[in-house]
This record gives sequence, structure tokens and C-alpha cells, in this order.
Amino acid sequence: MEENVKSASVVDITKTREETGGPDLRKLIHWGNTLHDEGRYEEAARAFEIALDLERGNWQALIGHNRAIRRSVPRWHWEMLHDEERFELYDKAIRSVVTPEHLVLDVGTGSGLLSMMSARAGARQIVACEGQPAVADVARRVIRKAGHDDVIKVVPKLSSSMRVPDDLPRRADLLVTETVDCALLGEGILPTIAHAREHLLTEDAIIMPGGGRVFAQLVESPSLHRKNHVGQLYGFDFTEFNELSSIEYFDSRLRHHEHRTLSEPLEVFKFDFYRDTAEPRRAEFVVPPAVAGVCHAVVFWFELELLPGIRLTNSPETPHTHWKQAVQCLPVPIQVQPDEPLLLDARHDGVNIHFTAVASGVRTAPDGASE
Ligand SMILES: C[S@@+](CC[C@H](N)C(=O)[O-])C[C@H]1O[C@@H](n2cnc3c(N)ncnc32)[C@H](O)[C@@H]1O
Repeated sequence: MEENVKSASVVDITKTREETGGPDLRKLIHWGNTLHDEGRYEEAARAFEIALDLERGNWQALIGHNRAIRRSVPRWHWEMLHDEERFELYDKAIRSVVTPEHLVLDVGTGSGLLSMMSARAGARQIVACEGQPAVADVARRVIRKAGHDDVIKVVPKLSSSMRVPDDLPRRADLLVTETVDCALLGEGILPTIAHAREHLLTEDAIIMPGGGRVFAQLVESPSLHRKNHVGQLYGFDFTEFNELSSIEYFDSRLRHHEHRTLSEPLEVFKFDFYRDTAEPRRAEFVVPPAVAGVCHAVVFWFELELLPGIRLTNSPETPHTHWKQAVQCLPVPIQVQPDEPLLLDARHDGVNIHFTAVASGVRTAPDGASE
């Protein structure tokens, strides 16, 4: 069996088990580890589950199962669930629109939270989809424990694979979703909502969130720069290593790094989730630095409009949000001064936001006119 491990699937494992009376525990664990090493985490988890059926509590199978699950279930779920501000704003927004007649679609239900809030607010029919099978499975159990399984149906699928009426009895009247990362678009909210509008929602459905904005700010922070760049250290030159630096944003909590902001926050993108598609967009800005300094990074964040007037943000000024800020380090830090604006090019491809910053080389006179 071990030679065939690479081409085998969990279906094969189960078949082998049914046909031969069961593979032995050692081979199953080996199989699980191989599937894991191949990046086939869901199948690996299944292999370890079968191993655990054979010997409940087997330590290697338990560890292997947990390792495989952790690859597909991000750690932020826990921190996110404890974010009370996020909970309160979604709860307020959901309570103010839900009626018993609404068919609610919760896209990316995670633990089932937004669906259970909708049920508590009086919705009688809710369909919750979740693209990660292991998470969907847990959501079902959380919802059952809360006693809402009579009104919430969990569909273990990505919303883009859902069909009416197979997964959703009819088009939904209310969409609730919290599929945003620290930079707003990174979890695919634009294509997800655009798909839902076209295939899963009534024409006059309420979409929550209805829109969002992204703000960016120039920041001086050698400490942030060090998270992505290295130079001379301990008598060695490590600059070659910077070829492996991230050219995309990563998440970090700005207030945990000594820094100076060099410009005012600037709105770079505004999205209307009732209309926008995932079409790439680009915008250029002339940014006047507020003070002289060295720009190491563009730091950005979102403001999500759940309903008109109910806004959720991960701005650096919001101390309790579980979301960090998005940080994109510049490949080469730029010296800035107030009389020389920086040209900032912001673009997105529907999912990722990217900035390019260059010194304009244009001096402005004290009254703001170009020299
Ligand atoms: C940020 S979590 C939010 C979970 C939950 N809604 C909450 O607010 O606590 C997003 C979840 O959506 C899932 N997800 C993202 N896009 C999805 C999609 N298009 N269809 C189904 N699930 C999706 C992810 O696997 C993840 O579990």
C-alpha cells in the first residue's frame, strides 16, 4: 500500500478498508502524513479520522489530524470571535433589518455567528454556506447546540458553487457576510457579492455590508521595514535575501511598531457592493507629505458600511479591533519633505490591493503652486 500512497485518495482508503477489513493503523498514519506533505490537507484529515476510528486517542493520529485541520482553518477565527465591537455592530445592523419573512443568506458562516444573530433577530429561514468543510461541520454543531437548527441550514460549499433551488430554496432577500481581510478585498468579497447578486439574491435584496472604503497613509518606521528587509548584520551582507521579500501587503498592528505618520489618511478606493464587480481598478494620487521623513511603508485599512450609518473599521486608531492593518513596505525607502509631493499609484485586481510610490521630483512653493 505504501508505494501507492501518492496516487491514492481518501475514497481509496475507505474502499480498501471496506474490502480488506481495514488497513493497519501504522499505514494509515503514514498515508495521512504523505497526503499532508503533498498539500492534500482535507484528505489527510480524513485519513487521520479513519485512524482515530481504529484507535481512539492515538497520539500520532491526533497530532496529524490537528496539523491537517490547522492548514485549512486559519488561527484568526478565535480572535475574530472575541472581537466584541465587530459582534455589536453586526448585531445592531442585523436586528435593524431582519424580518420573519426574509430568506437570509449568510456567506462564509464560519462558526455560524451571523446566521444565529439573524435567527435571534427573528428570521425564520436562513441558509449559511461555508467553503471549508471542517468549519461547516463545526458550524452545524454550534447551531444545533444553540437550538437554531430548525431555521438555519448549513451548506458546506463556496457560495460560487451554490445553486437555486438545490442549495437555496429561492433567491435570498438579505445577504449577510463578513468575508474581509485587513485590506478589505483579500478574502474575495468583491467577486463573492457580485456572484451572489447575479445568482443567489432577489433584485431588491439587502446586502450587508453595502459598501466599503480603503484608506492609506505614508509611514516612517524602521521597525516595520525590518519585517521585510535585511542589510548588513553581524559582519555579513544579507541584502541578497531581500529578493525573497514580500512585494505584497502583510498584516501588522501599526501601534506595536515605533512609527511616525508622514501624511494624512487618504481614501484610495470606495466600493458599492450593490453595483461593483471585481473588475481591476487603478487610481493615482499626489500626496503632500505632512512632515519631512523617510517613507518606509504604505499602511492601509478599511471602513465597512454594514448599513447606512453603521460602520466597522480596522483603522490604526481603533484599539480593540481584532484585524491588524495592511502594511506594504516600499522596496526602497523614499526621503520625503512637505514641499515635494509623492506620487502614489493604487491598484487592485479584484482581490489584492497594491501600491507603488515614487517621489514626484516636483517642488511646490510654500503657497502650494508647483515650481
Ligand atoms: C472572516 S470569516 C467570518 C466567519 C463568520 N461569518 C463570522 O462573522 O464570525 C469568513 C469565513 O468565510 C468563509 N468563506 C470565505 N469566502 C467564502 C465563500 N465565497 N463561500 C463560502 N465560504 C466562504 C471562510 O472559509 C471563513 O470561514
